Amino acid sequence: MTSRPEQDLETNVTAVSATDMTVARKGGNTRKVFVRTYGCQMNVYDSERMTDVLAPEGFEATDDLEDADLVILNTCHIREKAAEKVYSELGRIRKVKEERAKSGKDMMVGVAGCVAQAEGEEISRRAPIVDLVVGPQSYHQLPSLLEKARAGSKVVETEFDIDAKFNHLSERAEKQVLKRPPSAFLTVQEGCDKFCTFCVVPYTRGAEVSRSVEQIVSEAERMAAAGVREITLLGQNVNAYHGTSPDGAVWGLGRLLRRLAEIDGLDRLRYTTSHPRDMDDDLIAAHRDLKSLMPYLHLPVQSGSDKILKAMNRRHTRDEYFRLIDRIREAAPDIALSGDFIVGFPGESDQDFEDTMDLIRQVGYGSAFSFKYSSRPGTPGATMDEQVPEDVKSARLAALQALVAEQQKAFNASRLGMTCDVLLEKTGRNPGQLVGKSPWLQPVQLDAPEDLIGSIQAVEIVDIGSNSLFGRLIAGQDDLGRSGRIPAPAA
Ligand code: 5AD
Ligand code: SF4
Repeated sequence: MTSRPEQDLETNVTAVSATDMTVARKGGNTRKVFVRTYGCQMNVYDSERMTDVLAPEGFEATDDLEDADLVILNTCHIREKAAEKVYSELGRIRKVKEERAKSGKDMMVGVAGCVAQAEGEEISRRAPIVDLVVGPQSYHQLPSLLEKARAGSKVVETEFDIDAKFNHLSERAEKQVLKRPPSAFLTVQEGCDKFCTFCVVPYTRGAEVSRSVEQIVSEAERMAAAGVREITLLGQNVNAYHGTSPDGAVWGLGRLLRRLAEIDGLDRLRYTTSHPRDMDDDLIAAHRDLKSLMPYLHLPVQSGSDKILKAMNRRHTRDEYFRLIDRIREAAPDIALSGDFIVGFPGESDQDFEDTMDLIRQVGYGSAFSFKYSSRPGTPGATMDEQVPEDVKSARLAALQALVAEQQKAFNASRLGMTCDVLLEKTGRNPGQLVGKSPWLQPVQLDAPEDLIGSIQAVEIVDIGSNSLFGRLIAGQDDLGRSGRIPAPAA
């Protein structure tokens, strides 16, 4: 698995960082940077850090492409279409760049992330407007790379110097005490040593590396001080985390979570994405012991067929996965399980697919992500015999998604009438409406005053939509403080 998928996640980071940018840049020439993010949450986190790195250079974030002096596409390479989207976006950007040139304005274009890592120079060959190609482990060098590009050379930087990046992240964290949204990501681990035969991540993100406990705790403390109430720890293989603690011992993810749970103001912890092989006893026990560890687990299994699991090099059987789920549910009976599934992996027969459907029926998911297998050049899967025809993949995907949708609906419906804590995160579509998150990661819409954003409130679930829940605030604003709920931090 990689950090949680991706599907249609395409964002730009301007909303998050605009305040930080303005504060960080004082007196320099204002230039505008537009960052578009594709793919997983780790890319969202990386995009935020890229804008942090550019702030002292006088860059202010914009969500208006036409207005941008610098455009960065932070890309994803996990499935074919993602890279193709980047190339068509570059075509669109070329037109904008040409328009700007007519009024004498320049625009530099950078491609970052996993497509940059995988394709390197090929990108500037295929899209000559690209000035700068920067892999996921090199973005802390953006200012100097930009300088080189400005001097006229085409820059391609795809080194795997992950320690340098983590140290740099840490330095930034020292300086970043500005306001952050209530829910934020924090990368604790990067890369993957698992080499599933369908996956490019070990090639694009490199070997598994964990940040030190000290770096993570210090960044989390600063985030909490800046108003963050919920942190999602990120890693391509997050539960393989093995970071060094101040006394030199190596900590797993369970131990790290216990330490983070002690931080004042940090009321919610999550992590994504995990591999079944790395769910150790301590991590499972953390789900039982830690009130702030939310009852949600994204634990991809990819297939329910032992034959396909083996061909995928997943290194566990269907039965081992069932037994693991039993242990997790014993520790946290209320947990919402999520996962990733691939249909149409080479050699997948009707029976193999039926085994996957059966596994889904037996486990019962709160939600899940599913994909048609897409052949990735350079991975062992790409050259395997018995590639599955496209129409078979499509039919299997539709059947699987219908089953998951049914389970998701049932899971959501089981929340009806419950009262649960909701972290209020932002304003909703309609006036007077806020959107928050349930402990099980469902969006919850409710009427509430805006000054409650950033607080955790008791909410009764009164209705169920297809993707979100509708709630009613239990404590009125007048009850705040007396209700024992946590008030929103001062703006
Ligand atoms: N084809 C289809 N899906 C893939 N994923 C990763 N690589 C591929 C591929 N080549 C899916 C897996 C993974 C998720 C992030 O993306 O399900 O867990
Ligand atoms: Fe996840 Fe396997 Fe890819 Fe590693 S190789 S990121 S475990 S899917």
